[in-house]
Amino acid sequence: MNDVLALARPEIRALKPYSHAAWEPGLVRLHANENPWRDESDSTGAGLNRYPEPQPAELVARIAGLYGVEPARVLVGRGSDEGIDLLVRAFCAAGRDRILVCPPTFGMYRVAASIQGAGVVEVPLDRARGFALDATGVASAWSPGVKIVFLCSPNNPTGNLLDPAAVGQVLEACSGRALVVVDEAYAEFAPGASLVPWLSRYPHLVILRTLSKAYGLAGARLGAVLGAPEVIELLRRMIPPYALTVPTIEAGLAALGPAGLERCRARVDTLIEERGRLATALATLPLVEKIWPSDANFLLVECADAGRLLAAGIRGGLLVRDVRSQPGLDRCLRVTVGTPAENARLLASLESA
Ligand SMILES: Cc1ncc(COP(=O)(O)O)c(C=O)c1O
Repeated sequence: MNDVLALARPEIRALKPYSHAAWEPGLVRLHANENPWRDESDSTGAGLNRYPEPQPAELVARIAGLYGVEPARVLVGRGSDEGIDLLVRAFCAAGRDRILVCPPTFGMYRVAASIQGAGVVEVPLDRARGFALDATGVASAWSPGVKIVFLCSPNNPTGNLLDPAAVGQVLEACSGRALVVVDEAYAEFAPGASLVPWLSRYPHLVILRTLSKAYGLAGARLGAVLGAPEVIELLRRMIPPYALTVPTIEAGLAALGPAGLERCRARVDTLIEERGRLATALATLPLVEKIWPSDANFLLVECADAGRLLAAGIRGGLLVRDVRSQPGLDRCLRVTVGTPAENARLLASLESA
């Protein structure tokens, strides 16, 4: 058995998956208790009256090509959120195992652990070093019940990429001990920084990617777990067979076609440019004390009076995220980079504070 699979829950390793209706697109489907007629309102290609293809081969191949991995290393699901949930359920036994997180960070790792009844070990990012990963701290906080280390790079809500050398140190320390999951939801906004090429070197590395951010498909719910084929096969046995809907599959294929990819590249370029412009302009506001450097599509803004800025945004019809409850961020707001017009409107509203 692959070392990594030895970390998974034994009952999941032994799980026999649901046997879904065979996928034979050339044959008339009288084997899945579907309705033979499409509704008039149905504008999809495949038809909403039919169950979708489980782990759709063309979409998996497209996503594998996008990230430069073999299809056996790809699981597609309902956003990164589903990947996080599946990983925690596969590797953490309730009441016994734990995950390790580095706050301030994305909240779903903790939520997934709580739902599963798994504990949470925290090793905070080092604010004094720009929210850097404390690799030595992670290595020394590991204990046998810690089955997954979640790292987020670029990190939400601080916006910074984690130093690859520190991630490498964590990977070395966790070899044979824990899965290291690197959440790269915002990687497209930090060109060239993805750790996907490391997958072939580290069987215990798992990378989460999503089409919710750069590809503009947050409403479709489409993400990918990339990892060792054995890990992906384990998760494929757990994920509901029809996790992705027909509209989601078709939206994903369109977004990853040549025209969709071109549009995505142009929008990412615009957002990166706007990120710089917005950061410079926000920094001139009297209530703003610091704009943290960002490798993502949002800015962490440290303020003298976050409450007043939040209220000014709402008066102008704009929401920004209050992240003051997160450790080390008690004066911070998180601002998503919008269109040039939205950013101008935000600046005008905040100036009034
Ligand atoms: C770091 C991070 N990971 C994952 C997600 C969830 O992404 P998805 O829409 O793919 O579930 C988010 C969403 O904000 C995020 O910030």
